[in-house]
Amino acid sequence: MKKITHAVIPVAGFGTRMLPLSKSVPKELLPLGNRPAIHYVVEEAIAAGIKHIVLVGHAQKSAIEDYFDINAELDTQLRHKGKDELADSLNWLPDDVSVSMIRQGRALGLGHAVLAARPIVGDNDFAVLLPDVVLDPFTGDMATDNLAFMLAEFVKDQHSQILVEQVADSDVHKYGIAKLVDSTTEISDSTDSNASFGVAGFVEKPDLTDAPSRLAVVGRYVFSNQIFDYLANTKASVGGEIQLTDAIDALISESGVNVTTMRGDSYDAGDMHSYMQAFIYFAEQQLASKG
Ligand code: G1P
Repeated sequence: MKKITHAVIPVAGFGTRMLPLSKSVPKELLPLGNRPAIHYVVEEAIAAGIKHIVLVGHAQKSAIEDYFDINAELDTQLRHKGKDELADSLNWLPDDVSVSMIRQGRALGLGHAVLAARPIVGDNDFAVLLPDVVLDPFTGDMATDNLAFMLAEFVKDQHSQILVEQVADSDVHKYGIAKLVDSTTEISDSTDSNASFGVAGFVEKPDLTDAPSRLAVVGRYVFSNQIFDYLANTKASVGGEIQLTDAIDALISESGVNVTTMRGDSYDAGDMHSYMQAFIYFAEQQLASKG
């Protein structure tokens, strides 16, 4: 069984919920404390063993690619001024990790964005990380180990894995919501460990009355390569977009799909209110660690 080494990170969206901050700066590069939000997401993928990061971007998002490239001129200037430590800190990406960007062209939805990565991912199984969601990196391996757990589960039974967390009733309409195979399953409120359950389907952004559970899709997925074939045949639905959730529903009927409950906390960096709360949390943690 081949190890999963590819991760797709869709970064093509305009980030309209983050205007005016996102008017000329990609929302993925907005700071959370002293790093751009996407820095933590890429670190999380690398910590789980990912070697090939595939950004699915847009003409106005090339600054994200630049962030992961070496700026030779800046490097030379910093070293010339004796700031070697600072220069080294910018070259943090391990040598065996590559970051490439492919463009989505027309923005036809999350499912369409993931499908756009197919020419690079090829016939490999792969992970998807949505960069709006940043997992808390300050509580040891708690949150950032979720992806490693999901990759290990995939190796065991080849079932695609989708990370979920319990959300409040008032937040159900913002997310894809899981319908478990066994609807009588008791889900613990504790976020100290991961648990895996078979899933019967997902409802994308339901009204509370139609929500089959309170388990919301967090934005971390491990997919069998078959998902590409389903995405290629998925028609636009909710919001006129090609939804990843619809392709997952098709995948469920062919091969089992599991949800993994999340350890630790997640932060939504794609919505102004929660972004500001996340910024404060990240900045406070980093200021405290500097004493
Ligand atoms: C996407 C997914 C949704 C998921 C959410 C997590 O929605 O379609 O299932 O719950 O990300 O952030 P978006 O937030 O892109 O509308």
